[in-house]
Amino acid sequence: DWKMDAFVENSIRAIREKVGGGKVLLALSGGVDSSVAAGLLSRAIGKQLTCVFVDHGLLRKNEGDEVEAVFGPNGSFDLNFIRVNAQERYYSKLAGVEEPEQKRKIIGEEFIRVFEEEAKKIGAVDFLAQGTIYPDVVESGLGGESAVIKSHHNVGGLPDYVDFKEIIEPLRDLFKDEVRKAGLELGLPEELVFRQPFPGPGLGIRIIGEVTAEKVRIVQDADAIYREEVAKAGLDSDLNQYFAALTNMRSVGVMGDERTYDYAVALRAVKTIDFMTAEAAEIPFDVLQKVMSRIINEVKGVNRVFYDLTSKPPGTIEFE
Ligand code: XMP
Repeated sequence: DWKMDAFVENSIRAIREKVGGGKVLLALSGGVDSSVAAGLLSRAIGKQLTCVFVDHGLLRKNEGDEVEAVFGPNGSFDLNFIRVNAQERYYSKLAGVEEPEQKRKIIGEEFIRVFEEEAKKIGAVDFLAQGTIYPDVVESGLGGESAVIKSHHNVGGLPDYVDFKEIIEPLRDLFKDEVRKAGLELGLPEELVFRQPFPGPGLGIRIIGEVTAEKVRIVQDADAIYREEVAKAGLDSDLNQYFAALTNMRSVGVMGDERTYDYAVALRAVKTIDFMTAEAAEIPFDVLQKVMSRIINEVKGVNRVFYDLTSKPPGTIEFE
């Protein structure tokens, strides 16, 4: 794609000019935007870039390792990569907390704390880089609908918790599809570039009620099975977002001769253009049945599986 080629070339030149010999710090989430920003900055300034990846223990199964495989020392990008394994910290902060907005707040604040600690270790930073894209600029300016209904901690003002001279936002003029093209141009893996959206608070808002390490394990395993079967059925590129969530409901079941009293997993899949409205996708019943039977057989602690038919509105895409 010659246009993206030109965008990448021009951005690299502009970044070098702006940064000079300075140090740049980027919070890498593993999402499309921050990953493309990392790739671009890496090509421009190499080890002058440090990426801090906070594993909050609320990522999808194996996701932390996947991010490390791309950006870590064995990956193909020249940069400093710091992975912070903050799982235990997050779980202890979240213990006993049930209210969704409270959970978001804790996850957001803990991120700031962890990131701040890492920034201090690195020392003087000249630039803070962000993967802000054009729709974020518009949304924060107009105060998007979702910003009001749920606090999205990764959209908004300048962080004031790290000392830096200037902000650098190389994707500020791009729409999502252009960001993906730039990602491919930079050699990022397709799974990453075409990844479905994943909320900043992660599985924290897909576990209804209190978050525990055990519940994270359940929802990660159920979600991995769901994604695997959806991909096998060739449905993944047709769905805009799909995932498993853990309801806070336990119910009675039978397994062999035993009575069980276990959790119910909810499956969600939506078709949407702008994520402001959405419809439940029609997943073939045999695919759903396969997913149900695998989850119940393979994931300990689950004895019931639901499929969510709710559209948005009145529902939201996530459960919290
Ligand atoms: P809802 O649930 O509001 O989701 O219909 C709309 C889109 O936003 C994502 N989402 C979030 N993203 N932080 C994020 O970064 C959040 O707190 C958050 N809540 C929802 C959701 O995954 C969907 O794509």
